[in-house]
Amino acid sequence: MNEIAFTPQVLNLLQKLDEDFYLIDGKKITESFESLKNSLPDNFNILYSVKANPNSRIIRILSESKSMFDICSLSELSLCLENNIGPELISVTGPAKSKHELDEYLKHEVHQINVENLEELDYVLANKKFRTKIFLRINLSYFTHHFGFSTEDTYEILKNHHKEISGLHLYYKSQILDEKLIKEHFKNCATFIKSLPADWIGHFYAINLGSGLGIPYFEGERELNLKSVFDGFNDYFSDIQFNKPVSYQIESGRYLVGRSGKYFCKVLSIKKIKDRQIYITNGGIHHAMILGCPFMIIKKNFNFSTSKDLAQKEYDIATIIGKTCFSEDILARDAKLPKLEKNDWIAFHNMGSYGESFSPVGFNGFAKLKTYFLQDL
Ligand SMILES: Cc1ncc(COP(=O)(O)O)c(C=O)c1O
Repeated sequence: MNEIAFTPQVLNLLQKLDEDFYLIDGKKITESFESLKNSLPDNFNILYSVKANPNSRIIRILSESKSMFDICSLSELSLCLENNIGPELISVTGPAKSKHELDEYLKHEVHQINVENLEELDYVLANKKFRTKIFLRINLSYFTHHFGFSTEDTYEILKNHHKEISGLHLYYKSQILDEKLIKEHFKNCATFIKSLPADWIGHFYAINLGSGLGIPYFEGERELNLKSVFDGFNDYFSDIQFNKPVSYQIESGRYLVGRSGKYFCKVLSIKKIKDRQIYITNGGIHHAMILGCPFMIIKKNFNFSTSKDLAQKEYDIATIIGKTCFSEDILARDAKLPKLEKNDWIAFHNMGSYGESFSPVGFNGFAKLKTYFLQDL
């Protein structure tokens, strides 16, 4: 990993800290947003998926870039409102929304609710406020995931309610690094929409394509080529007869904020078990579950660097573990790294998304974690 984590500024911060933490570079968030925006054809809106990192400052940074916001809960709604995000910029997605939650979304007149089951649809149809638009979340069934309506149910719903439906939501997958797969998804979305009678879709307002834009986490992975992702996009949809130009939505968390963050933890102790060298750190899966690779069958090590990278010429094969009592609290397995000492720091890269928000922070009851911003150092 050639990215420099231990700059003089950061080393200065490390001297003052004793706990693990996240460090976010706000500038990189703006850069990611701009690079995505500049790669998109006209008529696109970018929605930031707050679940990726619900930090207020990140929300404000993306608000300055004129992002819209994708939320899943009332607390994410409050967070957006507290940070002066207008409800007209908010879209709600999630497989199960209670009546109370729907009432709140409708009361605030959020821009759109992406409904995922018949109960939600009936309730929103009966209680809809003037401004909120109803979108149907569709399951195009590439995977066996349980989100959205089946295509069969979608035909049935649109047959009866097409006048009240303003668009479709077609998110299906995260962390895609293969441009071809994303393009294939866009084409499939267009094919599905073309299969719908013209009078059901003519009045549509927007199409949410999801995206799943990924970022490199592991050795050998490369950045997505956004130009290639959106090349030819207009051709897929050009022969659909909408009555007025529709807008398209891209929903992304990881691509916008993932590369802005690093997770830092430091070595508390070093031991050997049989011939395995083990570094015990003050971090762990309670603050960075993503490093425990919960979805991976074959575990890989995320890219990281250490405060000894530049100075040390001797290497170890070692395992880095966290401080929780979970046996899978392993931050890196049998990794090649410089010989570390107590109080040396390790920085895991591209950890700006699904860090704290995707971690069991209450597990074992350790101190709450802090997030710092590079711009404040
Ligand atoms: C519906 C929906 N939208 C957006 C996202 C954000 O995904 P990512 O952060 O990988 O862009 C997810 C992730 O799970 C999702 O389920």
